[in-house]
Amino acid sequence: MTKRSWAEPFKIKMVEPLHMTTRADREKTIAEAGYNTFLLKSRDVYIDLLTDSGTSAMSDRQWAGMFLGDEAYAGSENFYRLEETVREVYGYKHLIPTHQGRGAEHLLSKLCIKPGDTIPGNMYFTTTRAHQELAGGRFVDVIIDEAHDPQSEHPFKGNVDLGKLSTLIESVGAKSIPYFTMHATVNMAGGQPISMANARQVAGLCRKHGIKIFLDATRAVENCYFIRQREPAYADKSLADILRELCSYTDGCTMSGKKDCLVNIGGFLAVNDDDLADGARNMVVLYEGLHTYGGLAGRDMEAMAIGIRESIELDHMHARIGQVEYLGHLLQKAEIPAVRPIGGHGVFLDAARFLPHIPREEFPAQALAAALYVDSGVRAMERGAVSAGRDTQTGKNRFPKLELVRLTIPRRVYTQAHMDVTAESVCELYANRHRIAGLRFTHEPRHLRFFQARFEPVQGDRIIRDER
Ligand code: F0G
Repeated sequence: MTKRSWAEPFKIKMVEPLHMTTRADREKTIAEAGYNTFLLKSRDVYIDLLTDSGTSAMSDRQWAGMFLGDEAYAGSENFYRLEETVREVYGYKHLIPTHQGRGAEHLLSKLCIKPGDTIPGNMYFTTTRAHQELAGGRFVDVIIDEAHDPQSEHPFKGNVDLGKLSTLIESVGAKSIPYFTMHATVNMAGGQPISMANARQVAGLCRKHGIKIFLDATRAVENCYFIRQREPAYADKSLADILRELCSYTDGCTMSGKKDCLVNIGGFLAVNDDDLADGARNMVVLYEGLHTYGGLAGRDMEAMAIGIRESIELDHMHARIGQVEYLGHLLQKAEIPAVRPIGGHGVFLDAARFLPHIPREEFPAQALAAALYVDSGVRAMERGAVSAGRDTQTGKNRFPKLELVRLTIPRRVYTQAHMDVTAESVCELYANRHRIAGLRFTHEPRHLRFFQARFEPVQGDRIIRDER
């Protein structure tokens, strides 16, 4: 059969010009930004692959929906539309809107966690764990070992190791586990999915012990696309049906609407339990806003309601994941060290193997992200030791097994030509990798340090040294 390519199921109606810079400009800019891509100004960036969070292009329907914003303080029409959509698409009973995902994580952590509690999950996420720790809890990772191995081809590296979870329940006791955090897909493992079979087993085990499960549904539809592709029983099911089944194994979710839901801002907490919902409605007024807007404008809730319906269309998801795979395959062909299989929301470069001459203490992923920016103006994000922060007990740096640079693809924003340019830059850096220098902190913030930390090269004053 001849090859039949896919193409985006949309055409472009409005364009935003990109700002081009020279290498000399970028060397200066990255030094001013303390070698932290979070501290770059967006106008100095050419292709922005920092994150897929809040960076999606909204559809014309979503923009039209923005004009239907009912900006009443209480009881906005858009809240009820969003509530109905979440009930129908995700299947949870109560909706509490929040300004973004971490707002929902804050509410859930504060409501459910007591000091000394243990919260297991399939790998940590930065904001999720930070809120669990601030509430006095301790996060314990029970993901399968394959998730920590960038080269493992396991199709569901987001799976939970049921043995690890059982052992943990036995050792700390179910009473000190307020809930299990289920991530789908697992961001820090490289956008890797959890299988439906595994989610069902986790639910069986947790229910047996009376432990609740909360889904981090931020990229759950992307996870469902992988289930459809890789789990034979789901090959003919709709994404909507797969999503409903996945959510049915959980008691609620926290959501950053800035990813799957195709909006620039927004999130929610959704739960089935009436008392918990009552507690969350009480608390949301303190931290976010009234329970019918939670820090969002009416128009934001409308755009999210429309985005949720667009997110479960198969053609959309096919093109979304297809574009990430396109970039991933270009890099695989060039034998660039990267996490396998290719993830849902980005391609994750394996900085530890890319830059073996830089010790972990000199943050190879941070250095690689800075060097990529200097080479081409492509902005990526460190996902390694800087993101992992320090152990709250010992104060020592955490060194997770994965030391990654995430090339995160915003939804419906860039073309395949942008992916080509990105891949060419990564290949060029790989050919000259010995010239990239390690980094050390010059400023280290206390919370979520990766956002605002500053660095300097350990030798010389350039991140990419001249050929000796
Ligand atoms: N959970 C996951 C899995 C996330 O990826 C994020 C955000 C959040 C929760 C928090 O949501 O940003 O709306 O408060 N991830 C962004 C990223 C920041 O770039 O991966 P938020």
